[in-house]
Amino acid sequence: MNLILLGPPGAGKGTQAVRIAERNRLTALSSGDILRGEIRAGSDVGQRAAPFVQSGGLVPDEIITAVMLAGLRRLPAGQGFILDGFPRTVAQAEALTAGLAAAGIRIDAVLNFHLDDAQIVRRIAGRRTCGSCQATYNVHFLPPRSPDVCDRCGSALVQRADDREDVVQNRLATYRQQTAPLVDYYRKIGLLKNIDAAAVPEHVEQQVARVLDGLGG
Ligand code: AP5
Repeated sequence: MNLILLGPPGAGKGTQAVRIAERNRLTALSSGDILRGEIRAGSDVGQRAAPFVQSGGLVPDEIITAVMLAGLRRLPAGQGFILDGFPRTVAQAEALTAGLAAAGIRIDAVLNFHLDDAQIVRRIAGRRTCGSCQATYNVHFLPPRSPDVCDRCGSALVQRADDREDVVQNRLATYRQQTAPLVDYYRKIGLLKNIDAAAVPEHVEQQVARVLDGLGG
């Protein structure tokens, strides 16, 4: 099974990607996590991507497409995957479709997470991420057992630099202008499945499970 997670910033794509991957033995590839890793490592890709990530704009299509297609090529043959945060423009979607077709791989569903702006802003303001293992928490909704300490690895939790309010507003505007058109793109080819992301994480997970059961996965 091969899936794409689509939706605005803070809608819970990353949170659900981890759960869907565990439940279905899929590999989750998060474009944001990969870019943040490249930025931390100071790689060439990281240096080119950093200004776009920091401002809440999109990294140029050719950079992110090359990174994500390379990540897919590294997967063992037949390994199912979840793409979280990629594609984010129609040009990226077309490049992905062509790249997968060349490898004889198809996407089974695109899960489109819906959440209103007020909830997006509240979730992002409360998000804390582990500086080591990148596990995600929320001070309002999914708090760690001890404040500011990762349950999984005990490292300190931090706030993402692009979760500042001015950057979040830019990320939302970018989503509306450049990513929202993908909803129609994937609806037209019959892959779009809508998910109500406003529910508690367990209920979102159940909705996703029902959709995937309907695919025979
Ligand atoms: P990226 O990291 O992909 O950011 P995003 O899409 O804005 O998504 P987020 O990570 O903010 O949110 P999410 O939907 O994963 O929510 P989460 O599960 O964390 O991208 C960052 C940047 O990289 C971009 O701005 C861009 O510059 C660049 N980039 C990435 N991909 C690119 C591409 N393809 N092309 C070009 N540039 C690209 O949840 C949010 C919070 O809510 C957490 O605190 C979580 O604990 C909590 N939460 C989750 N679910 C629930 C729930 N059901 N109820 C209550 N709280 C919940």
